[in-house]
Amino acid sequence: MQMEQLVALCKRRGFIFQSSEIYGGIQGFWDYGPLGVELKRNVREAWWQDMVNSHNELVTPPGAPTPFSMVGLDCSIIMHPQVWKVSGHYDLFHDYMVDCRESRRRYRLDQVVGRWVEYDGQRVFVASDQSEDAFDAMQQKALKFFNLRGKDKGKLQWEEELITLDKLDDTSQVLAPDAKKLGTLTEPREFNLMFKTIVGALGSEEDTAFLRPETAQGIFVNFKNVLDSTRVKLPFGVAQIGKSFRNEITPRNYTFRSREFEQMEIEFFCHPDASQDWYRYWRDRRYQWYTNLGLAGDRLRLRDHDPDELSHYSTGTADIEYAFPFLAEGDFGELEGVAHRGDFDLRSHMEGKLDPATCPLEVEKDEHGQPRHRGSGENLNYFDDDSRERFTPHVIEPSAGADRATLAFLCEAYTEDEQPDEKGKMQRRTVMKLHPRLAPIKAAVFPLVKKDGMPERAREIYGALKQRFNVFYDEKGAVGRRYRRQDEAGTPYCITVDGQTMDDDTVTIRDRDTLEQWRVRSDEVVDQIAERLSR
Ligand code: GAP
Repeated sequence: MQMEQLVALCKRRGFIFQSSEIYGGIQGFWDYGPLGVELKRNVREAWWQDMVNSHNELVTPPGAPTPFSMVGLDCSIIMHPQVWKVSGHYDLFHDYMVDCRESRRRYRLDQVVGRWVEYDGQRVFVASDQSEDAFDAMQQKALKFFNLRGKDKGKLQWEEELITLDKLDDTSQVLAPDAKKLGTLTEPREFNLMFKTIVGALGSEEDTAFLRPETAQGIFVNFKNVLDSTRVKLPFGVAQIGKSFRNEITPRNYTFRSREFEQMEIEFFCHPDASQDWYRYWRDRRYQWYTNLGLAGDRLRLRDHDPDELSHYSTGTADIEYAFPFLAEGDFGELEGVAHRGDFDLRSHMEGKLDPATCPLEVEKDEHGQPRHRGSGENLNYFDDDSRERFTPHVIEPSAGADRATLAFLCEAYTEDEQPDEKGKMQRRTVMKLHPRLAPIKAAVFPLVKKDGMPERAREIYGALKQRFNVFYDEKGAVGRRYRRQDEAGTPYCITVDGQTMDDDTVTIRDRDTLEQWRVRSDEVVDQIAERLSR
């Protein structure tokens, strides 16, 4: 499938529109149309139903170490600005940053200086993030890199100019400050991530707040509230679905990288000793969730991060990825990340922003030796009544995007085939093979013709179904065309009232995928549709 075909169908049939389209649109923002809003709601509801509402805390689910509880939250989009300082998002707000794949350190592009040096025909840019004695440090690095000894200093041909990294077009020949190999820096990225806003009428700098870039922090800062207001005991998960905002520098690939999007996140709190088991449980369970809803082919994969991709405090992270059609052959895009976050987040909100580069984690200090960003000082530890143990729970975080999941379901559903029309002539058809739980319209009801009492019977059936499901009534045009329209909308079942209905009170039900048709009594239609949708 070509992405353009799906984009065209989504616009034509009202799944997704460009935001503010009549004014030329606004990059990175999308609107869901009448079909799209139902589809995305169904994605969210399937997630909430499967993760929260239908969870039975009295039994051990398959693969889980023990029973556990699940509760939900709905937090505000604008939170106290300190939340983002402590979480680390605020410090990533300014300027261009690069990451070193080797040392896993992150640098501000304009704070790394360096000089070009040549030896034996090879020209290398030696970088340092130390402003003082930078040249000495560079010289040592260059000697090491070229396998030379101190006495060989004179063999190095240095270019005069000390320049900052942001002046280079290409970093492939850069020896990063803490790296031994060349070309370990990622593409520079502007971490102008959070959208700023002003709270209140005065509008001074102190009134600056941010639109949340993730829903997760609302859960961490409510950890104590949840414990105090419910009777949940560890292990338990807190789920939240809601909008997040990121001022992405390069929003692209349709809704995949948007500036406003929705997340479905769980923070699962557990005892540190059991955290590895819980990490594996959530990783596998979340992968299974997508396969259950139709992403079952080889376009979906679970990818464990290599140890060198992990932050110091994470002992495991896996991405659930989908081979979106807009990606190059063999490439996958992230649908969800499942991360073992240790005690990083709860400790940060207690003690102050932690320095992710330290191991064991330490509070990041300013030039006066004070915490760079103070925590709340609240006690976010957990006291286990049974073992009389007090500890900071570890966190497993399955963090999914509702828009990316919706896009993956749309991509997977898009199918073209050839089917015979009423006269037996083969016709091309586009069909969205969405899982019935996700389908925006669950069933369509048609009278075969607009006479002989058929519309009246069809409306009765429609009315009965409408009480329980989102269904659609259509009496216009040839029945074949009506089927095609529902195929494109992803409607799993079409119910047709025909001449025989008027004799024996049976109707036909047509299956979108198999095209099989069978007759049922009209008073059995609701139960039969309900039963099929629940499969
Ligand atoms: N709390 C962890 C967190 O936010 P993330 O990997 O940055 O982790 C989690 O985001 C999920 O949110 C991603 O896997 C993706 O599905 C979704 N997401 C992130 N940025 C997005 C964007 N710009 N547009 C659409 N979805 C996005």
